[in-house]
Amino acid sequence: MSNVVPKHIAIIMDGNGRWAKLQGFSTRIRGHEIGVTALRNSATYASEIGVKFLTVYAFSEENWGRPKSEIDALMSILVRSLNKELDTLQKNGIRLNSIGNIDSLPKKCRKELKETIQATSSNKSMTLTLALSYGGRQEIIHAAKKIAKKVLDGNLQIEDISDDVFSQELSTYNLPDPDLMIRTSGEQRISNFLIWQSSYTELVFLPVLWPDFSSIHMEAAITEYHERQRRWGKTTEQLKDSKS
Ligand code: IPE
Ligand code: IPE
Ligand code: MG
Repeated sequence: MSNVVPKHIAIIMDGNGRWAKLQGFSTRIRGHEIGVTALRNSATYASEIGVKFLTVYAFSEENWGRPKSEIDALMSILVRSLNKELDTLQKNGIRLNSIGNIDSLPKKCRKELKETIQATSSNKSMTLTLALSYGGRQEIIHAAKKIAKKVLDGNLQIEDISDDVFSQELSTYNLPDPDLMIRTSGEQRISNFLIWQSSYTELVFLPVLWPDFSSIHMEAAITEYHERQRRWGKTTEQLKDSKS
């Protein structure tokens, strides 16, 4: 057990639609809008307490299967938010990054994303990665293809394909693996998020719906993380021995 702040926190921001319904809104969109506020507050809080990497699941590859009206609304919220939140990112020294199939996003989103990433590129306090049109399986297939091509081109030997070599071909090549993954809304599944990278991540599932998520919930998740013992396949005794 150690009380070190997790270096990398990943969040599956779930429950926007259910929140909107519970509040009596006629569409799910209001939930997504308030979800942006929850993200702003969480990112600010995380950077304040010393988290170095925050990676949030904003839109999955599978979310393209939702009704067009919801997808369009989500994309326009994304454009608006990137524009509006630049100040918050700069004030808090947050560098924006993205993972996922960005090419499939509407042109306006790609442009805003590129500009915000560029504008925040020298910020040092925390890296905020938006997973957009992201799927873990798709990411692994993409990496496998790149590796296969390197082998075919004679630039890589099959025996040299290792954990590290593979990780370098993923979109998260410049991020450490997440220490803690939080999912809101009470669902207890990964839904294709960072499936390679989370092999030894501590998972915390919270009943709170994403628009209601605040620093109190992040603090509770970190407290739970601190109560876990990360053994990496070893025994408790071995871990005690290595400390003394
Ligand atoms: C998460 O909330 C946001 C996205 C997937 C874009 P949902 O929209 O999945 O909300 P619920 O799970 O239906 O309540
Ligand atoms: C996962 O939530 C994706 C995001 C939070 C962006 P979903 O609501 O899409 O996941 P499922 O369908 O309940 O597994
Ligand atoms: Mg959901």
